[in-house]
Amino acid sequence: MPSLKQTHIQTVDMSQKRTQRLRQITEKIIQLPTLPTIVTQLIALVGNPRSSAREVAQLVSTDQALTAKILKVANSAFYGFAREIATVQLAIVVLGLEMVKNLGLSVTVLKRFSTGREHRLFDRQRFWEHAIGCGVAGRLLARRLKQNSLADEAFVAGVLHDIGKLILIEYFTDEFSEALELAEAEAISIEAAEEKTLGVTHAEIGGWLAEKWNLPQNLVNAIALHHHPNLLEAPEDLVLFVHMANALIRYNQVGSSGDKQGPQLDAQVAQFFKQGQDVSDNDLLEFLSKDLNTELKKAQVFRDLDEP
Ligand SMILES: [Fe+2]
Ligand SMILES: [Fe+2]
Repeated sequence: MPSLKQTHIQTVDMSQKRTQRLRQITEKIIQLPTLPTIVTQLIALVGNPRSSAREVAQLVSTDQALTAKILKVANSAFYGFAREIATVQLAIVVLGLEMVKNLGLSVTVLKRFSTGREHRLFDRQRFWEHAIGCGVAGRLLARRLKQNSLADEAFVAGVLHDIGKLILIEYFTDEFSEALELAEAEAISIEAAEEKTLGVTHAEIGGWLAEKWNLPQNLVNAIALHHHPNLLEAPEDLVLFVHMANALIRYNQVGSSGDKQGPQLDAQVAQFFKQGQDVSDNDLLEFLSKDLNTELKKAQVFRDLDEP
């Protein structure tokens, strides 16, 4: 058994190591990818209550690729509008400013991170299936709970929730690979393995990135706390939707974000969705999975955004 003194030394070592590690990570974070200027401007413009729809339309129209993508999604089965939306101006009228902003953000990030490193236990194609799936599930949950105003934000939050993993595989390839191997060998979650090999998790890294991108605070929280929504004093609905969406997508085995564990459902989040009903977690997941497949099919447009 280690003596008290030894234990103390070990603890000091550990915390020094962690501080050092965090410093290294912070230095790398400074080099984290930035969002294209157009999207940063779009977020700022929509966030300003004095901005007009015309200004937003003008800004988006300066970028042909973004305009094309927004129109493609707006005209897809995902929104299911009966008439054609041919211009950004019309897209803003029909979809609303927030939705156009969220679409701009989602399509840009999907494109920006579509290629990069992989690992035996981390397949990018399956990762995107998981991410888009979580976006779709988050949007479905928001609508089901009659929170339509959060539906598009829940989509973006779902798509982005595991983005920290993409940062880790690019910038901390060795440590993240080690975490993936460890998670498999010890049958623990990737998050727990990251704590051991890196001292920080993909959720924290994702939160930092979202902060750096000046995303709204509830989106930052939803990403940073998607595994532990109850660390927020009063968990916001958005983080609850993302946590449940993640569990639903794992339950339905849509894509993979590298985790081999089954859905991990926080007891309080489960309680929130049970709304006073006495049902098992499994029955809840089964119940909430209704319509998921139909919605997933409608989201095909996000998988072929680059095709004309
Ligand atoms: Fe995660
Ligand atoms: Fe996830």
